[in-house]
Amino acid sequence: MGLKVGLLGVGPVGDRIIRVLRERKFPIDGELVVMATSAREETLADQTFQVRKIEANLFKGLDLVFFAGKEGAKGASVQWGRTAIDNGCIVIDNGGDFRMYPEYPLVVPEVNMAAVTSETRYICNPNCSTIQMVVALAPLHRAACLRRVVVSTYQAVSGWGEAAMNQLREETTQFLSGREPEHDPAVFARAIAFDCLPHIDRFLANGYTKEELKMVSETRKILNDPNILISPTTVRVPVMVGHSESINAEFAGEMSAVKAIQILSSLETSPGVVLIDGPATDPDSKEVRKDSLERRYPVSADLQRDEYKDAVLVGRVRDDTTRPNAINLWCVSDNLRKGAATNAVQIAEAMLDRGLL
Ligand SMILES: NC(=O)c1ccc[n+]([C@@H]2O[C@H](COP(=O)([O-])OP(=O)(O)OC[C@H]3O[C@@H](n4cnc5c(N)ncnc54)[C@H](OP(=O)(O)O)[C@@H]3O)[C@@H](O)[C@H]2O)c1
Repeated sequence: MGLKVGLLGVGPVGDRIIRVLRERKFPIDGELVVMATSAREETLADQTFQVRKIEANLFKGLDLVFFAGKEGAKGASVQWGRTAIDNGCIVIDNGGDFRMYPEYPLVVPEVNMAAVTSETRYICNPNCSTIQMVVALAPLHRAACLRRVVVSTYQAVSGWGEAAMNQLREETTQFLSGREPEHDPAVFARAIAFDCLPHIDRFLANGYTKEELKMVSETRKILNDPNILISPTTVRVPVMVGHSESINAEFAGEMSAVKAIQILSSLETSPGVVLIDGPATDPDSKEVRKDSLERRYPVSADLQRDEYKDAVLVGRVRDDTTRPNAINLWCVSDNLRKGAATNAVQIAEAMLDRGLL
């Protein structure tokens, strides 16, 4: 027997949730109920859907609703989250409005599924940049107790929704035809084509951005350790899909690149991680790249491959030669899939496995 399932929000994350549900054969009883701010016919995940205009009645009879709407006071979660629960639904919310509420678990299934209990009605999906960092660091934390992280992100425009992807397309066309890119300040504060913007979400009084603060507070909540020190810089780059992160991590216990590689290369100790590291031995590589020290590493384009599309790809694992028990690594993941849709669907799958749905 399947579940009655709804989806609120049909931006890139909503589209990926439909794809992931279909790919993973999530047991849905009848039709997926798709909702947004207005009623219309829309093609999502290569399929035509009748999108319904959101109203309270639509939640009646649904077991599970994925929320993929905008954040904030006029956003989907603030306006409709409580209504969904009151109508008997379990909610898995991609938005950031309730992530730090102590009563709502913030979950990465590979790391802290135990936070979801039979009482849980509302589960928050973490921020995309937090999810991939935590999947990569949790196994190392379990082995040697993480104490401090310095992270710089290289985040795709799709992290800011459909409007941001359109903005990059338009600006790129303008730039390549010799014109100055005209940016819409409602999307990005500066032009993004062929440039990097050290600015994601709103600035806070201390000079950090809200995205940076999310990486600090969400990581501590997921790893259940308020003492981990995290120093982030989040940067928007002209990539369509796929966030990359450069991470420096320092541990209380013994840690080295050799030990980290051993842990991260095992699916048993590091679920969700694929290590792409080591000497580049491609015999077909062009002459100019024939360097005996050349190494393999992951990039966003690798996420197109079926075996990598839902993984957190890790490479460039090195000792930090300036500090004991500290390492550097690079990690890459699809912000729309593992950073949002896949993580949400994995939570639902794990709840089903545990009899919580
Ligand atoms: N993009 C990412 O990488 C990423 C990663 C992790 C988490 N998230 C979070 O996931 C959510 C969705 O992201 P997205 O990029 O897909 O957003 P998006 O492109 O802005 O799409 C938002 C969707 O939500 C609907 N919506 C907005 N406000 C609503 C309301 N009050 N009631 C009902 N529907 C409403 C919109 O309806 P209309 O179509 O009718 O306007 C639209 O379909 C956001 O909270 C975002 O922060 C995104």
